[in-house]
Amino acid sequence: MTDLNAAVLVEGVHKHYGEVRALDGADLRVERGSVVGLLGPNGAGKTTLVRVLTTLLVPDSGRAIVEGYDVVEDADALRHVIGLAGQSAAVDDYLTGRENLELVARLYHLPKTEARRRADALLERFDLVEAGHRQARTYSGGMRRRLDLAASIIAEPPVLFLDEPTTGLDPRSRLALWDVIRGLVAEGTTVLLTTQYLDEADALADRITVIDRGKVLAEGTADELKQQTAQAVLSVQVETPDQLAAAAAVLGRLDAQDPQVEEAARRVSVGTTRGSAVIALAVRELEAAGVVIDDIGLHQPTLDDVFLALTGRAADEADTIEGAA
Ligand SMILES: Nc1ncnc2c1ncn2[C@@H]1O[C@H](COP(=O)(O)OP(=O)(O)OP(=O)(O)O)[C@@H](O)[C@H]1O
Ligand SMILES: [Mg+2]
Repeated sequence: MTDLNAAVLVEGVHKHYGEVRALDGADLRVERGSVVGLLGPNGAGKTTLVRVLTTLLVPDSGRAIVEGYDVVEDADALRHVIGLAGQSAAVDDYLTGRENLELVARLYHLPKTEARRRADALLERFDLVEAGHRQARTYSGGMRRRLDLAASIIAEPPVLFLDEPTTGLDPRSRLALWDVIRGLVAEGTTVLLTTQYLDEADALADRITVIDRGKVLAEGTADELKQQTAQAVLSVQVETPDQLAAAAAVLGRLDAQDPQVEEAARRVSVGTTRGSAVIALAVRELEAAGVVIDDIGLHQPTLDDVFLALTGRAADEADTIEGAA
């Protein structure tokens, strides 16, 4: 499995916890210098895969390689080229922010002065200069996340694993963290981040891998996934209800699909794969059929639609299936 462009390569990885198949033949590829979003609901197997890739968990079978190192055979070497910010921030509450960073730097065998220099630079970069001398137990959730992320990059690893980096943050802290992640990527860091948030995958990731129940359901750019799995919906509002039947007949012919008719709203909707050109076509055909259009629009699929199409449930429903994890 030599592949020079892949920073992360996973092939057919299985991991069982007793009866639970946390990973059931998962595949994944992350190009060097890119960001891949591993998107899946609670219990999908995201953390399990991150733990396999960061040598914290030995897979039952399959192969996983990071920067050319096998997670099992080359575990020690592999640990030197990765950073990990886990799902719950691994911060020592009784150390200050600065001490936390210096401790991690020392674990990577950086000399004391270099550890201090990098800690200072990171406190600055993550807006923690004021808080740097306070014990971490006084930090807000967002500050802990930032400190944890700072610690994960103090050794300047080429590959970074971020397990749900923004879960539990308020919208402002979330956007701030996105900016930090984008900055790391701009400097050439390869990032694998897990998320349950479709907008986060959409905003940060070059490519998205959707997983559920330990299996990959789909892979592609956000646009590719939207095209593959969810259709755009063309919707027309007619002037009077007696035109609904004629409108439905026209829309039904466009893509040979069954239109939905909402009497009260005087609206006919139909799935389409024709792209935005379908609007002009529909207008022409509707006018030719004597239909007067009050409103016409094309709803492009969102990543939420993709998620629904792939997993059979809405993104925010996933929370309630496994309970609050
Ligand atoms: N130590 C463990 N022992 C037993 N089962 C486990 C263990 N860790 C995880 N699991 C199970 O493995 C499956 C995958 O869990 P995992 O933590 O990888 O999911 P996840 O996608 O990270 O979910 P979340 O979004 O909630 O973090 C789940 O069914 C989970 O209950
Ligand atoms: Mg998890």
